[in-house]
Amino acid sequence: MPTFKLDDREIPFEKGDTILRAAYRVGIGVPHYCWHPGLSVAANCRMCLVEIEPPPGGRPMLLDILRWDAAKNDWVPDRKPKLQPGCQIAVTDGMVVRSETSKHVAEARSHVQEFLLLNHPVDCPICDQAGECKLQDYWMSDDRQPKRLRDEPVHKPKAVQFGPKIVYDAERCIACTRCIRVCDEVVGDHVLDLRERGNRNEITLAPGRTLDGDYALMTEHVCPVGALTSSHFRFKARVWTLHESPSVCPGCSTGCNAWLDADTREQRVYRARPRDNEAVNQYWMCDDGMMTYTRVQEKRVLRPRTGREGDRTEATYDTAIAKATEGLKSLPRASLAVVLSAQSSTEDNLALADLARALGATMYLSAKPPWRADKILRSADQNPNRAGAKAVAGGSVKSLGDLVAEVSAGHVQAVVALGTDADVDADTLAPLARVGTVVLLASNDGPLARFATVILPVCTWAESDGSFTNGKGRAQTFRRALLPRGESIPAWEAVGRLATALGADVPRRKLKDLRAVLSERYPIVAPPTPGTGASPAGTSAAAGDAGTGA
Ligand code: SF4
Ligand code: SF4
Ligand code: FES
Repeated sequence: MPTFKLDDREIPFEKGDTILRAAYRVGIGVPHYCWHPGLSVAANCRMCLVEIEPPPGGRPMLLDILRWDAAKNDWVPDRKPKLQPGCQIAVTDGMVVRSETSKHVAEARSHVQEFLLLNHPVDCPICDQAGECKLQDYWMSDDRQPKRLRDEPVHKPKAVQFGPKIVYDAERCIACTRCIRVCDEVVGDHVLDLRERGNRNEITLAPGRTLDGDYALMTEHVCPVGALTSSHFRFKARVWTLHESPSVCPGCSTGCNAWLDADTREQRVYRARPRDNEAVNQYWMCDDGMMTYTRVQEKRVLRPRTGREGDRTEATYDTAIAKATEGLKSLPRASLAVVLSAQSSTEDNLALADLARALGATMYLSAKPPWRADKILRSADQNPNRAGAKAVAGGSVKSLGDLVAEVSAGHVQAVVALGTDADVDADTLAPLARVGTVVLLASNDGPLARFATVILPVCTWAESDGSFTNGKGRAQTFRRALLPRGESIPAWEAVGRLATALGADVPRRKLKDLRAVLSERYPIVAPPTPGTGASPAGTSAAAGDAGTGA
């Protein structure tokens, strides 16, 4: 593999790599604003300037300059190397590049910073980007000089509503055009553009348009400063109080890799954002996926309940399990239905599938109905783990529609279901009201909840470790970001308690035991083990500052 030298370090590169991309591949960050690994090169910010040594025998590229000579108290002619944008210059074999080790680069970066901050409001105390802002980071690492401009800065529009989800502050904008390129190159919709020139320029909407659609939040995600903020996160939290946990989006079967940012003092998730994975979602997520974090708070099932809708009362977990056992124990095996969930983790589904097998019950699968797919990320299947649930059921499994038909035919007397989702409408589900015992292991309210006679609260994906297998068969783990809310416990644990109460012949297992069973019996949906070379939770393809918009 060809190599080049960056600050005396030998770096391998691939054909066509620019200096920044080659450095990014090996986890070295060269300061930059406008470059993004998922977008075309704009080379407009000049923060990535580097010094490139001439090849052996070659002539150095030099610039004629005037340098202040303190001894002469005058400007004197001088020459200095012509710096070049590392985001745009292709690497060649044996090239020698200086970034951190060049005094000319250090000087240039400091000047670029001063230039970008000339008209910047520096309203960091009220800016949502503070704590993850490149202007702050690079001022600390590459400038640290007081502002010399004493004139009134140029004022521009503030708090412009670009669309239902995005607010723009033109004074904070450094005109890097990342947001324009996301719209053009990822979404294919030229809804943003740059108007005016120099210190008057600002991002503007195409005439008659608003910034909406399924990927509007990606403009905020790539903005390296606080110019674009999202309506849902704006003024809600300071990023340094948030703890990031590697997760997988539960929004559809693409399985985009995500970070869940939670304030662990409040036990509350404040946002989800893309976690770079070249093989799954590259650097992006759709807006619906970014908003799935609200499921942790909304329509939650937090306490065990017994009784039918309208006559339901809170109970202790033990009482609810006893009630469920009472309804299930004496029934003939053939009349028991167990419903797995395409929304739940493979581990949760495995625990329930093994209980179904021990009880001789028939298995079915609940799921959310299909939604709008696109050619960017969104899959038509709104469920993150249909593949995992089907695999642990033995390969194929009946649908919720089949269950309703068998209930109507009088073949089913009791149901144990994971989740409350349904891919058929409310009228179709109506016959379930005839079933004597319906035990739901539920994290959120949903269409099946009205039929429950016992509800056991279980964790969402944000409160428990687990794995999903996406539509392309890629098993990916997610880590818990929060403690379980209310009285919820991991669903696999609730299944274990129910199995013990029923006297079912299944061993009581913990998560690691379930994963060992997956590896042994269902390796195609077993999550990769850390340290095996496979990427747990689809870890970022490259280091650098990925995850905050690179
Ligand atoms: S709004 Fe943000 S992403 Fe867009 S040009 Fe300005 S600084 Fe760059
Ligand atoms: S495409 Fe699917 S998995 Fe990706 S962010 Fe959107 S909903 Fe989530
Ligand atoms: S990152 Fe190279 S010019 Fe902006």
